Amino acid sequence: MDFTALNEVRTILDRTPLEAPQRIVEFLHDRFPHYDWVGIYWVEGRELVLGPWQGPAPTEHTRIPIGKGVCGAAAASGRTEIVADVSKDPRYLACFASTKSEIVVPIRAGSRVIGEIDIDGRELGAFGPIDQTFLEAVAALLATLWPQVPEIPTTTRRAG
Ligand code: SME
Repeated sequence: MDFTALNEVRTILDRTPLEAPQRIVEFLHDRFPHYDWVGIYWVEGRELVLGPWQGPAPTEHTRIPIGKGVCGAAAASGRTEIVADVSKDPRYLACFASTKSEIVVPIRAGSRVIGEIDIDGRELGAFGPIDQTFLEAVAALLATLWPQVPEIPTTTRRAG
């Protein structure tokens, strides 16, 4: 676990809570070279809606129904998804030609999935248990913003 990075996330949340989602995606993207594209989707009703993101290009997938794609699967189950080779996962919704692997980490507030962190990698198998543990801790910190931060919808579904 990268406690230094986690503490930096905590500092961002403490100092600038309203800007924290945007600043945290920028921080994750800049700190970890294998985090090629980093975005947060928020749950709004039965959909995921793209919030802040940082990476080389915008994605066309700004709204994803819960249950669709790797992102929708993680939102439906409330569990982290790691896809080592996106070309072999039939659920995968393609965004960038350069993407080879992906990790999606739900942001949970109690029993609710309120959003998720989605990260694309340029290498096969870019993400492992170290990323999972770290990003789940980041997601738990982000969850503390809900429902105070206005950009996070409060019309979220109940998980499970
Ligand atoms: N690949 C995702 C869609 C989002 S883009 O990676 C930014 C998926 O399969 O759900």
